[in-house]
Parts: sequence; C-alpha cells; structure tokens
Amino acid sequence: MWDTHPRQTWLRGERPDHVVEYDEELGFWNVHGYAEATEVMGDWGRFSSDVTRLFPAPPDQSLTEGNILQMDPPDHRELRRLISHAFTPRVVADLEPRIAALTHELLDAVPADGFELVRDLAYPLPVIVIADLLGVPSSDRELFKLWVDKLFENTDQFSLKDEARQREQLRENIENTAPLLDYLREHVTERRRAPREDLIGWLVQAEVDGERLSDAEVVNFSAVLLLAGHITTTMLLGNTVLALDAHPEQFAEVRANRAAIPAAIEESLRFLSPFPVVARVTTGPQVLGGVEIPADQLLMVWLGAANRDPRQFADPDAFDLSRDPNPHLGFGRGVHFCLGAPLARLEGRVALDILLDRFPRLRTDPDRPAAFLPSPNLTGVRTLPLLTD
Ligand code: HEM
Repeated sequence: MWDTHPRQTWLRGERPDHVVEYDEELGFWNVHGYAEATEVMGDWGRFSSDVTRLFPAPPDQSLTEGNILQMDPPDHRELRRLISHAFTPRVVADLEPRIAALTHELLDAVPADGFELVRDLAYPLPVIVIADLLGVPSSDRELFKLWVDKLFENTDQFSLKDEARQREQLRENIENTAPLLDYLREHVTERRRAPREDLIGWLVQAEVDGERLSDAEVVNFSAVLLLAGHITTTMLLGNTVLALDAHPEQFAEVRANRAAIPAAIEESLRFLSPFPVVARVTTGPQVLGGVEIPADQLLMVWLGAANRDPRQFADPDAFDLSRDPNPHLGFGRGVHFCLGAPLARLEGRVALDILLDRFPRLRTDPDRPAAFLPSPNLTGVRTLPLLTD
C-alpha cells in the first residue's frame, strides 16, 4: 500500500531466486540472505569496506581520507576508538533531558493547520542533537537540509558497467558535498584557532599514534557524523509511527505500556530498515552461499532483505512487537556496527513516548498518505501528515 521504491522487493513479500546473485546489467553482486549478510559483515579480511578501489579515483585524496565507513582495520580501529567514547550508552543517556525538552519545544510549535511528522519533529530533532554534539549552530539546519536533500534525492541506478556515467556521478557527488565540506572546514579552522568543548574541537585536538588528524580527516569524519546522524533517525521515527498506525492493536498495546516502545523501535528497524544496503568488495576469490565470487567484486549487502529472511525470522513480513530476540541487521554487524545506535535508539524512544503523551488520538490521514524518499537505497517516509483530534 505504501509507495516504497519498486526495487525494494522484500517490502512486498517477494523473495529472490538466489540469496547471492550477480546482476549482469549493473555489474555487482546482490546478497539477500541473513546468514550470508552476517558472514560478509563479520569478515573484513575477505570483504573489505574500502570500495573506493573499484571506482575512478577522485581528483583529490583529501576528499576521501577520514571516511570511517570506507576504512578497514587497523586504520578503522584507530579512528573508531577515538570517537567511540563520545557515543557510549552512558554518555548518550545524559542527553535524555535535552532530547525530551527539544521534543516538547518542537511539538509546541506544530502549526494549527496540520501536523506533518517529518517536517515538525522527525527531521529537526536528530539534526539539532547531532549539530549540538558536533558544535555547529543548529540554526543552520535548513542549510544542512538543502545539501543533504541534494545527496539523497538521487534516484539514479548505480552501475559498475558504465564508466562514463560513474565519472559523471563522481563529479556530481563532489559538487553536491562541496558546500557541506566547505562549511565544516570553516568550523575546523575556527577550532584550531580557539579550542572548544565539542566533538569538532575534540577531533582537532585528538591524536592517533602521536599524530594529530589532518583537517581533511576531521572535516570528512564530521560530515559522516552529520549525515549519518540525522537522516537515518528521521526515517526511524517516521517509519515507526507509520508501522504502528498500520497495526492498531499493537499501537494500542504500546500506548498502554510504554515499556514496549524499545521493542517497537527494534521491530521497526527490522520491518522497514531505514538504511537497507551496505557495500563491500571481495579481497580475493570467495565462496558465499555456495556461489563462487572472483576477487575485486562489489557486493551490495541488502540488510532490508536479510531482515525479512524466513530462514532467520518466523513470519518475516509480519510486524510483530513480541519478537524476542530480534537480531535484525538494521544497524549493521561487525566492526562497522552503527556507532550512533545508542543515540538513535534513545531519540526514538524519548520522542515516541512524548508524542503518545501529547496526542492521544494520533493517526494517519487517509486523504494525505505518507510519501517515501525516492532513493532505491533508503527506506523512509519523506512526509507523514497526521491527524491529532
Ligand atoms: C554505521 C544504520 C543512526 C553514525 C552504520 C551502519 C548502518 C547504520 C547499517 C553500518 C554501515 C556499514 O557496515 O558499512 C543506521 C541507522 C540509524 C543510524 C538505521 C538510525 C536509525 C546513526 C546516528 C549516528 C550514526 C544517530 C551518529 C550520531 C554512524 C557511523 C557509522 C555508522 C559514524 C560508521 C561506523 C564505522 O564505520 O565504524 N549506521 N545508523 N548512525 N553509523 Fe549509523
């Protein structure tokens, strides 16, 4: 019933013919199975995150250094250790009062002519939180939105077969990220002049093996945090409200028993995984799911499909709050397991709890259905108008 992207076939109860298959037309391998996805993400020696080696090199090395998502150990381990202390469950838990206050503030400002969940809460809340952590003014959030929308509105089907198109996409990507990187570079320069107690200030001071991070590393890493830190949590909040609305009995259960909110969030991450695909490259010839894959091949690991794999989850297409355990792959697995998971979970729990308190009759509007983001690689509502009385 929802206008999710047609390529996201797992959302329509369809199963692939093979859990690992080569896409002749696009030139990469699709991994759909749960066991195979965990095998790939659990073994960085065989399946590297450094996919840059397959693509045309960017004109300038400083555009890629510090991108933690595309690093393998040991470099990855060093950078991750640096930053992980800022995102431990304990540190994150201290943010709860701020997240609650912000949620109330944003809900106080809902316009009288209608509540649109993404515009009014699900977008601004995580952006303000991550901007505060980084130390950039959250009042610039309309700017971030402009830049981020440009990056994620891309509906192009990526192909390894068309090198001219790849170069064109690289050029577009560089062009689209330039304003964000320039913006962050100004903040980094500012911190070098006048240190401050925020994440950018801390990264500027931090040392790996006795060496400071370069400006480019701090800028690129901050960009990953700013991007990963908000659009995904926006989708999580929207998707959870939408999934609950579509399952009124379970919605009533969560309303009556708020202790069930974390289970609703985990099931939402499985059922409508916001970030449904990660990429890896084979470091040598591999056998995966009984299929032989040569070296230097790109693998698209479909977390969204693995989260609906009937070999792992009973009745996988049912939204079911009582799944326990619920070992979904919505935050990935292995060394790159989402650094922001404790923060995303906290924001989701606090915001949903307050939303239910303040709107006892919250429901979707049959005249204004939810719209999903157009990218084949994201699963999340872009607009979700709600009725409140
Ligand atoms: C990594 C999903 C929220 C920061 C990842 C990965 C996934 C993911 C699937 C693994 C990527 C891979 O293996 O290649 C999500 C979802 C979120 C969310 C679904 C919200 C519901 C956040 C937040 C932050 C964040 C709030 C930051 C504050 C990161 C970072 C990484 C990452 C820095 C890279 C970690 C590494 O490479 O070691 N995320 N994320 N994410 N996420 Fe999240």
